[in-house]
Amino acid sequence: MKPMKLKDGVTKIGAVHFERRLFDSLIPLPDGTSYNAYLIEGSEKIALIDTVDPMKIEVLIDQLKDVQKIDYIVSNHSEQDHSGGIPFVLEKYPDAKVVCTPKAKAFLMDLLHISEDKIITVEDNETISLGGKTLRFIHAPWVHWPETMFTYLEEDNILFTCDFLGSHLATSKLFAEDECHVYNSAKRYYAEIMMPFRNFVAKNLEKIKDLKIDYIAPSHGPVYNRPQFIFDAYNSWVYDEPKNIVVIPYVTMHGSVKAMVDYLTAALSQKGVVVKPFDLTVTDLGELAMSLVDAATIVVGTPTVLAGAHPQVIYATYLANALKPKTKFLSIVGSYSWGGKAIDQLSSMITNLKVEVIPPVFIKGLPKEEDYKLLDELADNIVKKHEKANIK
Ligand SMILES: [Fe+2]
Ligand SMILES: [Fe+2]
Repeated sequence: MKPMKLKDGVTKIGAVHFERRLFDSLIPLPDGTSYNAYLIEGSEKIALIDTVDPMKIEVLIDQLKDVQKIDYIVSNHSEQDHSGGIPFVLEKYPDAKVVCTPKAKAFLMDLLHISEDKIITVEDNETISLGGKTLRFIHAPWVHWPETMFTYLEEDNILFTCDFLGSHLATSKLFAEDECHVYNSAKRYYAEIMMPFRNFVAKNLEKIKDLKIDYIAPSHGPVYNRPQFIFDAYNSWVYDEPKNIVVIPYVTMHGSVKAMVDYLTAALSQKGVVVKPFDLTVTDLGELAMSLVDAATIVVGTPTVLAGAHPQVIYATYLANALKPKTKFLSIVGSYSWGGKAIDQLSSMITNLKVEVIPPVFIKGLPKEEDYKLLDELADNIVKKHEKANIK
């Protein structure tokens, strides 16, 4: 991708990784991703904000071929998809200094072996002037690592947020023009990366709420030239009450759990609840994570394998617990042939979730008439809980 001018003296560079399909050996990337870096040229000094994942370093180095000097490499976040290119940039510009928070210094030294004498740490709200371009550093811990910060370019009202407010979206566009598409990518990103730190997300949103911002320039996905779009989205994901949605991640082996899930789905749908069943054997876990952003209730569906829950159900439950959605209720439906402890096992795995557990339905074999009655009761119970909690 060619450099793209954002404002006079402010250029978006970095790499668009269209073909990448997995991040952290964990997160599906249906739309690829990008590692945005930004070049800021003042009358006296030049700063580079963030770098790229080392697997795309040649793109960044090529974009810098006509840049004679870089004085500062600002590292808003030490994770390697943004900081991993720093050693290569330092090799090209040995006089450059890396600018980061005091916490990030140790990360950069440990993760990338950047030597201490190359690093300048900045306090919250400290500024560096490039000559007509002033960088203000805003400490923003835990979005999503403890050392994260934002950089605000005062003269141009641009906030560089690195991961925060970003999206795994590979696009040739500079700006978030297709807001519907970007909304989904940003929501997926929020669900997978930021949701576990929702309280810190809220604190950092609060911290920047009075800043005059014309552009939000994250280090994944397009730049927001209408910042209110992404602020509105984050505000609803972070602060709003969950919606009248039941998410059902499940696995079925011989059809019993599928019969239960189908029945429960129909019963809840008839009562006006939005139901999102996910067969975990074919589910994109990012879709499941996104659905958890707004879900009021999770119902886990599991068969019994070797006396416990199915391993893919355990995996999904572990992830849901780690993602800490604002879900209020949880239940389990399951089936067994000769016994098992699936319910106890899954119940012990949700310690992070502040949920009220609705009595599970655990049956032997294929559901019988009396089992369907139990599922009707479960559906009634969920609806009543939602109504009582004023969930719409
Ligand atoms: Fe990160
Ligand atoms: Fe990142």
